[in-house]
Amino acid sequence: MTDSGAGTTRRTSQALMLSLITLGLGACARLSTPQAGSGGASRPLRPLLANGVARTPPMGWSSWNYFGCEGLNEQVIRETADAMVQGPDSLKDAGYTYVNIDDCWMKTPSGQARPRNPDGTLSPDPTRFPGGMQALADYVHGRGLKIGLYSSPGLATCQKGGGSQGYEQIDAQQYARWGIDYLKYDRCGIPVDATLRNRFVLMRDALQKSSPNRPIVYSINPDTQDGQSWADVANLWRVTVDIKPFWDKVEGSPTENNYPRKHGVLGVLDRAAEVASVAGPGQWTDADMLEVGVRKAGFSGLTNEEARSHFSLWAMLSSPLIAGNDLRNMTPETRAILTNREVIDVDQDAAGTPAVRVRDDGDLEVWSKTLSGEGTRAVVLLNRSSSNAQIGVRWSELGLAWGEADLRDLWRHQDLGPVENTYSASVPPHGVVMLRVKGADNNGRYEAEAGVNTPEDKDVVSCGRCTGGALVRSIGRGTTLQFNDLYVRQSGRYQLRVAYTTRENRSASVSVNGAPGVSTFFPGTGGAFLPRTATVPVDLRAGLNTVQFSNDRRWAPNIDNVTVLPGN
Ligand code: GAL
Repeated sequence: MTDSGAGTTRRTSQALMLSLITLGLGACARLSTPQAGSGGASRPLRPLLANGVARTPPMGWSSWNYFGCEGLNEQVIRETADAMVQGPDSLKDAGYTYVNIDDCWMKTPSGQARPRNPDGTLSPDPTRFPGGMQALADYVHGRGLKIGLYSSPGLATCQKGGGSQGYEQIDAQQYARWGIDYLKYDRCGIPVDATLRNRFVLMRDALQKSSPNRPIVYSINPDTQDGQSWADVANLWRVTVDIKPFWDKVEGSPTENNYPRKHGVLGVLDRAAEVASVAGPGQWTDADMLEVGVRKAGFSGLTNEEARSHFSLWAMLSSPLIAGNDLRNMTPETRAILTNREVIDVDQDAAGTPAVRVRDDGDLEVWSKTLSGEGTRAVVLLNRSSSNAQIGVRWSELGLAWGEADLRDLWRHQDLGPVENTYSASVPPHGVVMLRVKGADNNGRYEAEAGVNTPEDKDVVSCGRCTGGALVRSIGRGTTLQFNDLYVRQSGRYQLRVAYTTRENRSASVSVNGAPGVSTFFPGTGGAFLPRTATVPVDLRAGLNTVQFSNDRRWAPNIDNVTVLPGN
């Protein structure tokens, strides 16, 4: 494998300025991603591999993270399938479906690659899999589960078993005969060059040809880590180097490309988060298999707190949930983590919109995932530090309107009731608080009358044609209306669409984040309760912004609302 450099993009604040007004008459523009906290704006997606499977991120188990090469055999797979269906609240009941055999099924225990049969097919190693693959697939299917296999587009797999190069069609036919449901196709034995894409396409086409009526989930590791979408090739594609069972970003010294090879949960998370936005139903970015409950020599492993964070964040990113631990021997805590249905529901949400990091205060972060249904978000408050921390979130950061929202804690399984405007919690070291928040989408619009704006005793009057049924008047002549809660994810130029009313022409000074105001003309709207809109270009910084409307000597217009729109 080749590692390539990657790092977290940290946002920087920019100086602010206001410039000229442009006039627009009330047209309702559709908002898009840079504007809202984590708004559900449409994302441009690449043409999809239309095989109809993996409409939600695949869930299952893989042999690699714990058993690796040495521990892999038929017994383990059978017992794992048994463990998955065991108990009143089994992993299968929680949604885990795939039992994936990773590398080495075609290698002898002493490390020899098995030669192909005279007809070109590849059989599993008979010492590891004495019953053969067909019987094993039947066994797994007999438990109501599905079975996955592993190969590589080169001549050899990563562990030097036989790869599929030149045998794509033969192997795909064999998988179809055995009833394989999922193929992990891992870049090994071939370079990352201009031919890379086509090598994955070869197997895509072979799978479709061999199994036209029973589509096989196609999971690839192109190992490029360049953020490009592979949606037209595969159902999911790995976006990071291999995860290892530890918490921190990286361990060990930099290797080729000056990039450390050992990545823990935080290292993989930061990388995966950068490229997750291209994911959606049937096309997932794969942050690698889970290290929940994986205890392995040479690694610190994750504490239960860290494992909860790992699981929560993978769900937030809509990453596949492929357990990597020994399911036959897991602690009650590990089981409880893997089967937390409220967190699983976040991963499996039908909209498939991956979370974004809406706030990054160094070690303290807020993540928001837009879920199906009006005004619904999953929120993670993440404490990367090694001491307790208080982390708060404002509804505006979630793209939700000021006011009440219903909150539920997804790890405590507790309703927190209706909560106004903000929520703050103490988060343990390396821990998360994960919430489901149900409020109202603000679509980038902020009501002038909202209590979060100042002054507190502003002159609010009802206005039938105004949003929220009210406007704020008596602005000017020394009284300033200040919006305190305008949130954008990225610093940059936006358009502020101001809904206002005034019988006669008025003007106001519009100031962002305390910068010198820009005198702005607001033509008469035809009535004091007849709103129209004017658009002001503004430079906003990532996070919360204030906008002031003032006029020292005269009346400024009455303000109904402002809407933050993207662009120049
Ligand atoms: C790596 C891959 C791992 C595992 C391993 C097997 O390239 O990223 O997830 O499959 O190969 O050799």
